[in-house]
Amino acid sequence: MRGRGETPTVEEVRLPAPGPGELRVRIRAAGLCHSDLAMVNGTLAPAYPLVLGHEATGVVAEAGPATRLAVGTPVVLNWAPACRDCWHCRHGEPWLCAANTAPSVARGETAAGESVQVTLGLGALAEEVVVPERAAVPVPAGLPPAQAALLGCAVLTGVGAVRNTARVGAGESVAVIGLGGVGLAVLTAARRAGASPILAVDVVEAKRELALAAGATDFLRSDDTLGREVRARTDGRGVDHAFECVGRSATIRAAWRATRRGGAVTVVGMGAKDDLLSLSALDIFHSARTLRSSVYGSTDPDREVPELAAALAAGDLDLAPLVSGTVSLAEAPEALDRLARGEGARWVVTF
Ligand code: APR
Ligand code: ZN
Repeated sequence: MRGRGETPTVEEVRLPAPGPGELRVRIRAAGLCHSDLAMVNGTLAPAYPLVLGHEATGVVAEAGPATRLAVGTPVVLNWAPACRDCWHCRHGEPWLCAANTAPSVARGETAAGESVQVTLGLGALAEEVVVPERAAVPVPAGLPPAQAALLGCAVLTGVGAVRNTARVGAGESVAVIGLGGVGLAVLTAARRAGASPILAVDVVEAKRELALAAGATDFLRSDDTLGREVRARTDGRGVDHAFECVGRSATIRAAWRATRRGGAVTVVGMGAKDDLLSLSALDIFHSARTLRSSVYGSTDPDREVPELAAALAAGDLDLAPLVSGTVSLAEAPEALDRLARGEGARWVVTF
């Protein structure tokens, strides 16, 4: 990305050799996430020129001094590596690590000698990255690369929101608003948790089939009838848990209205800072609902990525419905356009 709103281009970037505690990783697959779009359209404000991409799997190609992982180790990249030393890390909240606040950091340079930024410390839409070893989680060999890449963002985020943030239990009712990679991962996790019914909601009708394949019991259109349709499927109450996976105040409000008295709304989508949410003070009191956000699935990726990778290897976790197709790096800009139009689930760049 050369600047906000521009079309991404494919260019050569010279990376530094891995320093102490760093690895060079050869990327095998990298997913296109809505947060990449946010860096294209300016919802997020990183510095440019910028290498996009933060959801990837690859293999250690070179290990810097003072590292433990051997060359050849398959890894999934973690965009919020925990420092293990700040207040949040010491209080069991590594996903809120104080060391991870910048949307991009400087690493590498163009042929013309300009300094280059990499998204969330990774810049994974590239043949290779140089990253801190903390950002590389070892996984078993032989995982399907496109599915393994998703473990690093959409799946960790969606599964974690269900398991760690909302702690959905068997038999609880769930609504998921927004059926991109993140929302479909939430559906997958809700099904694994034994939730029922699982109501999948989107504005794009073509998401119906994807949602049913990922584990939804019903597909509902996101419009004025949503509240009524949800109550009709929950004995008039509304769902126990609603997950907002779009990142807009309007859909947070829709999630709020779809939830029963005493239920919980979990905001997974990342919205814009000037998009304000308005709720009635009386309703907040009377409805006794909980509204909270889930950042990176409230998880410790060093623990949960290997667990999900093992489930994937064992066939206990099927992420195939989340992958709409694979594309080359040259095709990535066009695939980002498809993502912006809501076409398909996840598009994954393979190398
Ligand atoms: N109601 C319901 N669904 C909507 C609405 C709406 N008003 N507006 C958009 N959507 C749907 C889109 O049709 C699409 O299916 O939300 C989905 C968003 O999917 P993606 O663009 O693939 O986004 P994803 O990568 O899943 O990320 C979702 O989570 O991590 C954050 O930054 C990320 O905010 C983004 C959100
Ligand atoms: Zn992401």
